[in-house]
Amino acid sequence: MIRTIILGQGMVANYFAVGLERIKTGEIPPYGVPLANVKLRRKIEEIEIVGAYDVDAEKVGKTVYEVAKKWIGEVSPIPEKLKEVEVREGVHLRSLNGVLSGVLGLERKMTLKDALNVIIDQWREMNPDVIVNVITTENAKPINSINELEERIDRNDIEKLTATQVYAYATLKYREETGRKAAFINAIPTPVANDEKIVEMYNRKGLPLFGDDGATGATPLTADLLEHMATRNRKVEFIVQFNIAGNIDFLALTLPERNIMKEITKVSIIKDILGYDVPHYIKPTGYLEPLGDKKFVSIHMEYYTFNNLKDEIYVNVRMNDSPALAGLLVDLVRIGKICIDKGICGAVYPVNLFYMKMPGPPGSKSTSKILAFQKLKEWLKEIDGLVDE
Ligand SMILES: NC(=O)c1ccc[n+]([C@@H]2O[C@H](COP(=O)([O-])OP(=O)(O)OC[C@H]3O[C@@H](n4cnc5c(N)ncnc54)[C@H](O)[C@@H]3O)[C@@H](O)[C@H]2O)c1
Repeated sequence: MIRTIILGQGMVANYFAVGLERIKTGEIPPYGVPLANVKLRRKIEEIEIVGAYDVDAEKVGKTVYEVAKKWIGEVSPIPEKLKEVEVREGVHLRSLNGVLSGVLGLERKMTLKDALNVIIDQWREMNPDVIVNVITTENAKPINSINELEERIDRNDIEKLTATQVYAYATLKYREETGRKAAFINAIPTPVANDEKIVEMYNRKGLPLFGDDGATGATPLTADLLEHMATRNRKVEFIVQFNIAGNIDFLALTLPERNIMKEITKVSIIKDILGYDVPHYIKPTGYLEPLGDKKFVSIHMEYYTFNNLKDEIYVNVRMNDSPALAGLLVDLVRIGKICIDKGICGAVYPVNLFYMKMPGPPGSKSTSKILAFQKLKEWLKEIDGLVDE
């Protein structure tokens, strides 16, 4: 069994929980799960969601079934199994400021230190192998030291901490206090696998860390198009890539300080793949409610080809946003458990390179996703993560 906790029971988490249970019962094929067709040592059927956290008053105290029914019940049947998991109250730490009002959060009624103890006591019972972070995009900077983070928690300095950093720290504390190991998957842009100090601690405590920011949607497509340019020595002149959607994640991204977090994780690919930078406009540009979770993506590039002639590429896509990340999580959770089985820890580059927009550890290069997928499979063979026929 792979005991999994979800942080942030939003769209991605709902699709993950629902899709996972439907795959397990054979109701749907595992499309959108990259490693579904190779024999990974850990099976999809082993994944069990044992806990979920949120701070939205409309979700806390409900079951994952009730939450999923309300948010995606119109587009998908919701498996009864999800009635077994209750959404519990997490720490807020401003992550929904300006996005949602009337937000809960354990720190409203106790110190942050006590809130951490409450969460770790709950984890003691849930006994997680993997913790998946899919809360709302925050604005965050790497921490300077773990001591400083601990001091801020001790001082209850809630203005200088983000929820993701506290959850990543709770995973370390869980290890320290119970002796058990859990992998932390950071699928959002907050630097965790790109935070030198956090990575160092995960290495020291023997915990696997995946991040940052799941690579779905337009960015991996742009990365693969750039690889196409690089392998043909075509000189790219400029790149335009924008997204518009009508989900809450995009509403949060209309706040400039959060939008910049996405921009940072998206633009690192250009220089890494082409070897030179080019003028670019790459960011989520807007929120338009009727688009819902099915976002509109447009990509445009100009490049010089042989004889110095100019070509143009235009790509227009309407794609379901959150299910794309949910499919990747089905692999990441299994690989998280494999890393624990095999004693692999720290920011695991071959995994992050394929699944993340900003692969940690800090300073790591991005490549196209086509190359990253080959490297991932080679690495899985090496660590005995794939089972031979
Ligand atoms: N394709 C994708 O959808 C995609 C790709 C890459 C990264 N991401 C990242 O995944 C995250 C989730 O996306 P989504 O579409 O599910 O967003 P969402 O807004 O639907 O869900 C986020 C959930 O997190 C909850 N939350 C916020 N702060 C919290 C906290 N402090 N503790 C616990 N829960 C908290 C919210 O109440 C909400 O239920 C975003 O940060 C986004 O950047 C999404």
